[in-house]
This record gives sequence, C-alpha cells and structure tokens, in this order.
Amino acid sequence: MECVEIRGGKPLYGRVEIQGSKNAVLPILAACILHEGTSRIDHCPRIQDVFDTIMILRFLGCRVWWEDQCLAVDASKVSRCKIPAQIASRMRSSVLFLGALLGRMGRAQLPYPGGCVLGSRPIDLHIAAINELGAKVEEKEGCIFAEGRMLKGKEITLRFPSVGATENIILAAARAQGITVINNAAREPEIGELCRFLQKMGVDIREFSGGRIEIAGETCLQDPKHDLVADRIVAGTYLLAAAITGGRITISRMPQEHMETVTALLKNMGIGIEKHGCDVLVDGSRKRRGIELLETAPYPGFPTDLQSPLMALLAVTEGESRIKENIFEDRFKTAQQLNAMGANIKVREKEAVIRGVPTLYGTRVEAGELRGAAALFLAGLIAEGTTTICSCHYISRGYENICGVLTSLGAEIEELCN
Ligand code: EPZ
Repeated sequence: MECVEIRGGKPLYGRVEIQGSKNAVLPILAACILHEGTSRIDHCPRIQDVFDTIMILRFLGCRVWWEDQCLAVDASKVSRCKIPAQIASRMRSSVLFLGALLGRMGRAQLPYPGGCVLGSRPIDLHIAAINELGAKVEEKEGCIFAEGRMLKGKEITLRFPSVGATENIILAAARAQGITVINNAAREPEIGELCRFLQKMGVDIREFSGGRIEIAGETCLQDPKHDLVADRIVAGTYLLAAAITGGRITISRMPQEHMETVTALLKNMGIGIEKHGCDVLVDGSRKRRGIELLETAPYPGFPTDLQSPLMALLAVTEGESRIKENIFEDRFKTAQQLNAMGANIKVREKEAVIRGVPTLYGTRVEAGELRGAAALFLAGLIAEGTTTICSCHYISRGYENICGVLTSLGAEIEELCN
C-alpha cells in the first residue's frame, strides 16, 4: 500500500478488535532462537515488521509457519549468526538479534538497525551492556560484530530506561552463566510480555518494582506457547479515531491496564470512555477541550508513540494545547503535514503549540514514519474533501489492515497503488 485516498467527514461507528502488540511480538520473535525447539505465539499481528522478522528467522535456519492467528517458530536448526542487511536496515527491532544470537550461537553480525527516523537513535546503551556481560563487540563499516561464547551474568544499571537496551540485555542474559540484574530497566508492558514468554520457555526471570529485573541464565529450555497482549498504541489510535470523527465505537481486546494514562487524558478532554465487560465504548460526540501541557515520558507516562496521533486530534480541538516530546529529539515532523491541511501548529525545540482550528482541508500529504502516518490518517478522516496520503508503506509496518478496519467503521478510504 503506497498511497491512500480518504474522503473525510464521516463519524465512525461500529466495533474493532485490537491486534496483537507489534512492540511485544518483535522481541519475542528474536527470543524464539534461544530455544532449540518450537515456540508458538497466538494473536500474532500480520504486519510488515513481523513479515520482515520472519524473513530474518528463516535466513538464520528456522522453520516458521502460521496456524490461523498463531505463529509457530521451530528454531531447532539455527545455523547462521549473521543478519541480512537489506531486511535488518528496515526496522529498529533487528538490533535485538544481537542479544539473541549471542545467547544462542555465541556470535552475532548485524547492520546498524533502521526503522523510523525520530532522531539519532544510538545503540550505545545496548553495546555497553552487552560488553558488560563479557562479549567483545566491534563496530565497523556500519556493522556490529560480537563474540561471546559464554556470557557471564552481571549487575547492569542503565542510565536511561531504554526499551530496546533492556530487551537486548534480557535476551543475552537468558542463556548466560549466573544471575544478571538490570537496574533502571524499562517498565513498558512489552518488557513484561517478553519476561512472561521467557518464563514459559523455562528461564527464571523476575520483574521487581522500581525497574529491577533479575535473570538466571538457563540452557535447558522448553517449547513455550504464548497468547500475545493486544497493542496499546493501536488501541489508542482507534480511540483517537472515534474522538476526532465524533463517532462512537466499541473496542474489544483493549489492554486497559496498560492505557490508564492515555484514557485518563482523553476523559479529561471530554471524550467518553466506558468499560462494558471486556469491551470499551468510546463516545467522541461530546464537546472536547484542549490540554494545557502534555509531556511524553517512559511508561507509565504518556507514550511517545501516541504523540503524533494526539496532535492530529488537538489540531481540531478548540483552544491552545501544548505537547512536550521528551523521548525522541525529532518527533514533530508530522506538524508540517498537518499545517498543510490547515492546522495551526508551531514547533519550537521540544515543544509544539497547537491552536485548534474549526476544520482541516484535504490535500496531498507525505507520511514520514509509522505513527506520523497514523496521525495523517486521523486528520484525513475529519478533513473536508479528499486527503491523499503518500508513502503509506510506513503504516503497514504496525497497523494490521487499517484501511479495512476504518472502512468497516464507516470511513471512505481507497488504496490507490500497491
Ligand atoms: C521502542 O524503541 C519502540 N520500538 C518505539 O516504538 C518506542 O517509541 C520506544 O521504545 C519508546 O517507548 C520497538 O519496540 C520496536 P528506547 P527503542 O531505546 O527501543 C535513546 C513505534 O512507533 N537511546 O527506549 O528504540 C533513544 O535515542 C516505535 O512503534 C540511547 O540514547 O526506544 C531515545 O531518545 C517508534 N541509546 C530514547 O533513548 C541507546 O542505546 C528511547 O529509546 C538506546 C536508546
């Protein structure tokens, strides 16, 4: 899907079931190579990042197949420890094969990770931690070379609770000798999912309050079957879609326990969010108010991945709102595209000031990264006339069948070219 045309102005009504979590399944897929057997992940989302990771797993020697919504990975015959550059450079999560391959093969060779350009996105925390576990890591010609036949557990303190670095340490420590302790680990729900998956594999891993994780390395593992948690960012995006169009939708499989900061903020804006058993009913028909200041933060703070989609909603919400982006240094790119649609957003360093306008106008816009693309979809749903969104391949990385889902809720969307 390269470009999409949306004819805006239709409130969304109906029901949507939330897909499995992209940012939970990607480290879990890397973890599959730690076990010389078969792992199964139910509710695995059919998204581009998963398809690309399956290509990496097959390149390494795994057999991978779908059993309905469940993905099965037989990693008994992993024979390679080098990741193909043309796939790995497409996504950030390829860096997680550094820890997983060291854990399984004692060696790893991979290119610098790609993924959404949200700033510099260094991997210094990953490399420093893997070195502390006893591996020898070299970086040359845009590649990472790591050697570490028998890693040894260590106490590691992260200067920043990096999600990826926490995951890489867990993957390398899962088969290391002795105990590894991570202090100031990331607390995102995706870390807990990885821990639960590894516990089912037979790794003794425990999360403590305050961002401390203990991993006792283990080499005798077993076949895990894991039912993947729903995607909190995708759920938040559909919450915002109901809000921006003034519609009413029912969301099933919403991971409410991971979205308290998001739902509290949206309720505070005047959006109706009610629990109905396992479902959540979202009512966007009520009058909304802006947000004086929203700051993105590591979990349980407001997630940076919903910052751009929220900006789209604030662009058509009366009054002046401000967003401060504290996680990535270049994550306001979408403001320029929204302004081309008639929004009034001024960006100064880490802060965006959004003055709500009565309406946006359809025009041709260009997506620059995954969550920015989602924000443009939301803007297109409410804009007068037709919005053409180009470079839509970004959105396929994280949203399963988004055009089909929005169409089923009443949106007028056409995929122009594949
Ligand atoms: C993960 O990225 C997610 N990606 C991101 O989601 C998410 O925005 C991010 O966590 C924060 O929650 C996946 O899980 C695949 P970080 P990651 O390491 O691991 C700096 C999406 O849209 N940093 O917590 O890359 C870094 O530059 C994506 O689904 C270092 O300085 O995030 C950034 O400023 C986008 N050195 C901050 O930490 C390092 O070695 C947060 O990065 C690593 C990170």
